[in-house]
Amino acid sequence: MIIVPYLLCGINTAIIVTKIKTGEDIRTLGSGNAGLTNTLRTQGKIAALFVLLGDVLKGTLSILIVRFSFLWLTGTDTANPDNMMTYVGFAAAVAAIIGHVFPIYFGFKGGKGILVSVAVLMTVEWIPACILLGIFIIVVALTRYVSLGSCIAAVCYPVTILVYSLITGDPCVWINVILSALIAVLILFMHRGNLVRLKNHTEKKLGQKA
Ligand code: G3P
Repeated sequence: MIIVPYLLCGINTAIIVTKIKTGEDIRTLGSGNAGLTNTLRTQGKIAALFVLLGDVLKGTLSILIVRFSFLWLTGTDTANPDNMMTYVGFAAAVAAIIGHVFPIYFGFKGGKGILVSVAVLMTVEWIPACILLGIFIIVVALTRYVSLGSCIAAVCYPVTILVYSLITGDPCVWINVILSALIAVLILFMHRGNLVRLKNHTEKKLGQKA
């Protein structure tokens, strides 16, 4: 439930793709973030596409492995609220995001967890995930700041899960909200440098080169 998502999501595609392409460490380039935005900024569109596919794949796989292993071992589907076990998916999501942000293979310095968060939440609860993705896209389209979209979506994350879980009558509502709040706090913490740059008007906009 915890170890597999952590280890799988520790495989950082931005670091690997950049190493293969230029031999450099992306964490020393651009914003220093080993993520999609910085790959696009410093390595171009093709490299960014590989990162997009890699991060979505590892996030999705992590949750599916946990869900079907749990089903196989216990006969309980964690995606069904009637089983009172939906928190398993959220716990796996936390582990996956921590694996991406603090990867054991790369000196515990990975990305900021946005793309992986989208992938895992899409697999755990796709309706709130679509709402959050919509909020992110609107903010980025209006401002051209990916980090601002990420932070606003992160703040909305636990609130959206709370409202959605109450509407659907999910029995694990409070555990899911606490786990989502943990993810939101981690994402905001990882964006602390971006928030300072946004305040100082020095943050790079989407499409601006490093
Ligand atoms: O996904 C990370 C994004 O929110 C910010 O990335 O490279 O601009 O710090 P970056």
